[in-house]
Amino acid sequence: MKTHWQQVLRELTVQPDKHARFLNTISLMEYMGARKIVKSQFEKNIDSEVLAHMTEEIRHAQIFKKMALKMSDGHLKTYTDEFLLAGEAGRSYIQSVDQAVCAALEGEDSYLNYLLSTLLIEERANQVYPFYAQLMEPFGGASQIKAILREEEHHLEQIQSLLAESSKVSSQKLMALRMIEQRAFDFLIQSVALELGMEVSIPGVAFDL
Ligand SMILES: [Fe+2]
Ligand SMILES: [Fe+2]
Repeated sequence: MKTHWQQVLRELTVQPDKHARFLNTISLMEYMGARKIVKSQFEKNIDSEVLAHMTEEIRHAQIFKKMALKMSDGHLKTYTDEFLLAGEAGRSYIQSVDQAVCAALEGEDSYLNYLLSTLLIEERANQVYPFYAQLMEPFGGASQIKAILREEEHHLEQIQSLLAESSKVSSQKLMALRMIEQRAFDFLIQSVALELGMEVSIPGVAFDL
């Protein structure tokens, strides 16, 4: 049986105009991820791995942007609101995770903030992108998403081993952060479902329409 988020993503594939705009939203989220790394890290923390991560996230944004352009006949050039689907929820997903980590660390350690935010986002990417790759099979985008996924897997492994060296985050705190990420993801999926005219079915997610 498909979970709710899988049903919502599957529904996207039969509404190509909206699907193109959602691909543009994913591109925006990849871009925001890259921008957060660039803006948040002090020079003293930047090594070759961090540089690679920035570069790869920008490239992911470009790959999704090209898919959005292809599916919209070149129409969705920028990240202006009308070119996005559930754009506000996409933005707020990245911001919610970042702010929750910042609050949990009391704003103190920008490098640890980077590691934790990345952990939460990469865990989600590693759950969603394999399914998304299958969905993109008929549109010719599966191999590109699989290539992105290989890099996301590598980011997750790196972050897990760097975090294992740090004893500053309790498992309780991590569990609380994962719940916040889950809520932000549910909110994004529900926003997409609403745009698609589907029923909103996850309890506890409030909407201001
Ligand atoms: Fe990425
Ligand atoms: Fe990544």
